[in-house]
Amino acid sequence: MKPIRALNLLAALAAPMITAVRAQDTPPYRDFKLGVEQRVDDLLGRMTLEEKVDMVSGGGWMESKANARLGIPALKMADGPVGVRAWFGPSALTMKANSPLPTITSTAFPAGVALGATWDPELLREVGKTIGQEARALGRDMMLGPGVNMVRAPLAGRNFEMYGEDPYLTSRLVVGYIQGMQSEGIIATVKHFAANNQEHERQTIDAKIDERALREIYLPAFRAAVQEAGVWAVMSAYNKVNGFWCAENSWLLTDVLKKEWGFKGLVVSDWMGTHSTVATANAGLDLEMPGAESIRRYIAAGVPQNSGDIGSRGAMQTPEKLLPLVRGGEVKEAAIDDKVRRLLRVMFAHGLFENPKPGGGVVDTPAQRTLARKAAGEGMVLLKNAGGVLPLLPQKVHSVAVLGPNAAVARTGGGGSSSVKTNHAISPLDAVRERAGTAIQVSYAESLPEAAELAAKADVALVFAGDSAEVEREGRDRESMDLPAGQDELIEAVTKANRNTVVVLNVGAPVAMDRWIERAPAVVNAWFPGEEGGHAIADVLFGDVNPSGKLPVTFPRKLEDSPSWGHYPGKDGVVEYAEGIYVGYRHFDKKNIEPLFCFGHGLSYTKFEYSDLQVSAREVSLKVRNAGGRDGAEVVQLYVRQVAPSVDRPVKELKAFRRVELRRGEAWPISFSLDQSALAYYDPAKKDWVTEPGKYEVLVGASSRDIRVRGTFELTK
Ligand code: GLC
Repeated sequence: MKPIRALNLLAALAAPMITAVRAQDTPPYRDFKLGVEQRVDDLLGRMTLEEKVDMVSGGGWMESKANARLGIPALKMADGPVGVRAWFGPSALTMKANSPLPTITSTAFPAGVALGATWDPELLREVGKTIGQEARALGRDMMLGPGVNMVRAPLAGRNFEMYGEDPYLTSRLVVGYIQGMQSEGIIATVKHFAANNQEHERQTIDAKIDERALREIYLPAFRAAVQEAGVWAVMSAYNKVNGFWCAENSWLLTDVLKKEWGFKGLVVSDWMGTHSTVATANAGLDLEMPGAESIRRYIAAGVPQNSGDIGSRGAMQTPEKLLPLVRGGEVKEAAIDDKVRRLLRVMFAHGLFENPKPGGGVVDTPAQRTLARKAAGEGMVLLKNAGGVLPLLPQKVHSVAVLGPNAAVARTGGGGSSSVKTNHAISPLDAVRERAGTAIQVSYAESLPEAAELAAKADVALVFAGDSAEVEREGRDRESMDLPAGQDELIEAVTKANRNTVVVLNVGAPVAMDRWIERAPAVVNAWFPGEEGGHAIADVLFGDVNPSGKLPVTFPRKLEDSPSWGHYPGKDGVVEYAEGIYVGYRHFDKKNIEPLFCFGHGLSYTKFEYSDLQVSAREVSLKVRNAGGRDGAEVVQLYVRQVAPSVDRPVKELKAFRRVELRRGEAWPISFSLDQSALAYYDPAKKDWVTEPGKYEVLVGASSRDIRVRGTFELTK
């Protein structure tokens, strides 16, 4: 036999053995054809106790620990809910103008409350997906958002980040956002679990909340994130709930989240939000962030202790502290295994071991900016438009005066960890100038007396006022609902100088308007509208976009009218949620208090008619017609009331909604299915939800107080 053929024969015989050897070389956990749980089991079984304990505390400011021996990558995280913020340190450092840390820019989407005002879950899906694309392009695996805490108190500093006062609205929106983001292979982190509803003493406050309020108001959005959206990470909040720190609250983290809801992902602490070693390890926290070394580094770098970003806590789950306790049996190894299992499961589920990672993502593209503009426009709420001052039509309006402290600056977002550095923010002034072109003359002044003079000379005065990232921010609540100093006076002066005054607000939460609201014929709430907010404001003012936003929070006439008045921000480290389930419009309805602008309120440049309501216990159908002269979108809201409940219940509760776009003159049939859970209340004595037979009323309308059609049905069993 010729040598060559002998070699070929040898190679042919050896091949299966080589493959077998290679297969033996490739451990199952590296075989992405295997199931996630198989890979987790295999890898977990290869880890020493020391390696497992090492995994449950962070490796950096925004990274988990890697394991070189087994090739376990670090989980790379970034804030936040409306865009990718630089992950090198707290926002107190990364958002500084001359930050010592590398700069990361990405698309700054509108703040959570503006997204809440869209009432458009499919839009939220697109936003979540797009932020996921940007995270992938920037090499991150996990985003720290969405924030879903209920807006309980008007002054709370992070209200702007959340989706409003109603658990059903928030749930529908964040399910879309999370599914969109995770469809891009990026892990979403729903936060802050639970009841982080104020910034005042946020690191220490103890929220006393009855179980019915927790179940019906404060937990539903987290439950939807877990059970409907399949969120892979949950962030425990800084505060206590009913006496226990959230990071060591076994009722929240183990009984409810993991056992009752079946959560299979990862519970990560808020940054420096841990206070113990044994209690935290045994209560169900899986990963403590950030890493101890990075805390030391930033405190050494002088990050202000009172910024709220750097507490004097954290670094409780480090190996030095935890390993002796595991060896001593105070923390079971099984508890450590469960933490590591969850971490590995999230990693395998998102392909973190496979290189190159699926897809590459894109960041800061025109298409992403277009989505940001669309979202800002859909979230804009036309609060008032007496006499049809808006939209600005060239055949009617030949000159506008652009006035106020928020005119020449882009108020893209609120302050703190959700902040995003962007390359493209445009101010309302620049956007109005761009849109007006030569057809309409534009003048500008920031404040009195020049503002009043310009207002007097123009056909329409546009006053841009409201808050900034310094006023509405993480770590601090507002002192009052008042606008920043001087703005009321400015608006009053302008409305006196020109009866065609439009007030445009950048606010992420209710503000007082009593000093000028009667004199201002038109008011638009632009919220913190992201980098494309200027363009979106011009789109709405000039009628290129017909406003369809609806308030996700009630705007009270005065602070004393709000549900948390008298039990916020708490005393001696405790805040009593004495209002119970009566949060937001539930309170105003129950107490029969007229708000300034109600939950679900938002006007349009056209008008919609509701008719043909059909109601049964399972299904509600109706017809909506665009009876005005412009195409537009309407958010049809469906509330349910139990007519004679055996327990105290809200007058009505939001149980369905639909955003419909209708051409002028067009009519559209809409139907909603009602499942039993929509009718239930939580009974703490039974520790279960109860749906009582009896009569229910269905109220359908354009806001919680603009009910257009109503009907009843009898629930027999
Ligand atoms: C902050 C915030 C949290 C953020 C985290 C990381 O303190 O409470 O929302 O994701 O720390 O920056």
